[in-house]
Amino acid sequence: MNIIFLGSPGSGKGTQAKRIKDHYNILHISTGDLLREEVKQQTKQGKLADSYMSKGELIPDEVILGMLSEKLKSLKEGYILDGFPRTLQQAKSLYDILQTIDQEIDYVVYLDIALEEVKARLVARRVCNVCGEEYNLETKKPEKENVCNKCGGELIHRSDDYPEKIQTRLDSYINATAPIISYYKEQKKLITINAQQSFEMVTQDIIKNISI
Ligand code: AP5
Repeated sequence: MNIIFLGSPGSGKGTQAKRIKDHYNILHISTGDLLREEVKQQTKQGKLADSYMSKGELIPDEVILGMLSEKLKSLKEGYILDGFPRTLQQAKSLYDILQTIDQEIDYVVYLDIALEEVKARLVARRVCNVCGEEYNLETKKPEKENVCNKCGGELIHRSDDYPEKIQTRLDSYINATAPIISYYKEQKKLITINAQQSFEMVTQDIIKNISI
């Protein structure tokens, strides 16, 4: 079973992908997390990615496809794709990649939310610099200010979670990513979920709508 989680920055793709991954015990592939790890390791690809990510811009399609195509071809188990595809070109290339191994996408879970709501979520997000655990100053506060409950690591404010960068990310979403919604709707793969509910309600709605 191969599932795409689609939605604007801050719609809850990462949060829900982790919950659904745990529920069904399937693989979670987040392009954002893969890229941030490359940036942390200061690899050549990481340095290139950082020059786009720190401005809130999308990384060129050929870089993303270069990073993912062989990985996807080699996987023997089902997965959730979180943050990919993000352009029509990426969606069409994903289709071609999966065709070569006789596979397809089964569901596209579209997390639908007002863009004003995501701005508030993103400015309040904090992430542990050590273990990656996520917090939110409005909805999931750490017990001790700036300290991770789990590992004691320092909590950081993602460099693209500042208002100006958030706006650039939302503009990219509107211009480059939103057109994918109708692409998958036409293929009858789209499941629209109201992402403006509680964490648990969103998870329950997703589970109700997919059958694995
Ligand atoms: P990526 O890491 O994928 O960032 P994003 O898409 O902007 O997504 P976010 O992680 O910000 O949001 P999310 O939807 O996962 O929400 P989350 O669950 O975290 O990509 C980062 C960058 O990498 C891109 O800008 C681009 O440069 C590059 N990149 C990645 N993939 C690429 C690709 N395919 N092509 C080109 N470039 C690419 O939740 C956000 C906050 O909201 C959290 O604080 C959370 O606690 C809170 N929240 C979630 N759900 C709820 C709820 N139901 N109620 C209240 N609060 C909630």
